[in-house]
Amino acid sequence: MDWREHVREVEVEPSLYAADFARLGEEVDVLLDTGARVFHWDVGDGHFVEPVTMGPIVLRAVAPRVRAQGGLVDCHLMVENPARHVPQFAEAGADSVTVHVEVDWEPARALARSRGLGFGLALNPDTPLERVLPRAGELDLVLCMSVHPGYSGQRFIAASVERAARLRELLPDRVRLQVDGGVGAENVGALRQAGADLLVAASAIFGGGDPAAGYRALASAVA
Ligand code: DX5
Ligand code: ZN
Repeated sequence: MDWREHVREVEVEPSLYAADFARLGEEVDVLLDTGARVFHWDVGDGHFVEPVTMGPIVLRAVAPRVRAQGGLVDCHLMVENPARHVPQFAEAGADSVTVHVEVDWEPARALARSRGLGFGLALNPDTPLERVLPRAGELDLVLCMSVHPGYSGQRFIAASVERAARLRELLPDRVRLQVDGGVGAENVGALRQAGADLLVAASAIFGGGDPAAGYRALASAVA
């Protein structure tokens, strides 16, 4: 499956990191019914980022539900050695993987491509934007982190709007621009105007206790 053909012009991506894990499947179904198409799956290894988060064993239970309704799972690997994990995520039903430009990412790119996955590179808030440019033509997406990666529920770093706009200018048109961290109703419009088209949100969707309403609020703000 070609990841690019299935991602709409603008996607609000629910990050399941902040879902109610005791009701994960139900929350995914509700969001699919509400119109979410791309789900963001945050993987922390306890090294590149402090927390150990969600692994392929859990994804294996969720991905078929998403795919059955035409959705996709976009995995954000906040890990030191992404090549070690890409095959497991591919087998568990990932549709794309994004790994950090701050680590040795090339072996992960080759593995992702050989398995037909979409591939992206993520930049931490203090990483120079130029780091992703030499190979930008080979990427499906660039992820501009708007918090330091690791935890959900952090405050949005305001300078990220400017970084997103600059990235949009620098990247080829066909490379999607994703923003992740502290995204909510108060900044999603500015991010969209800056050229971001994949907007990841965890607390803004799940934090209010009504994920469908949270998703709808963001989706209508960027429509
Ligand atoms: C954490 C993850 C994010 C996180 C976003 O660094 O990469 O995807 O789940 O959470 P919020 O939207 O709450 O900042
Ligand atoms: Zn993420």
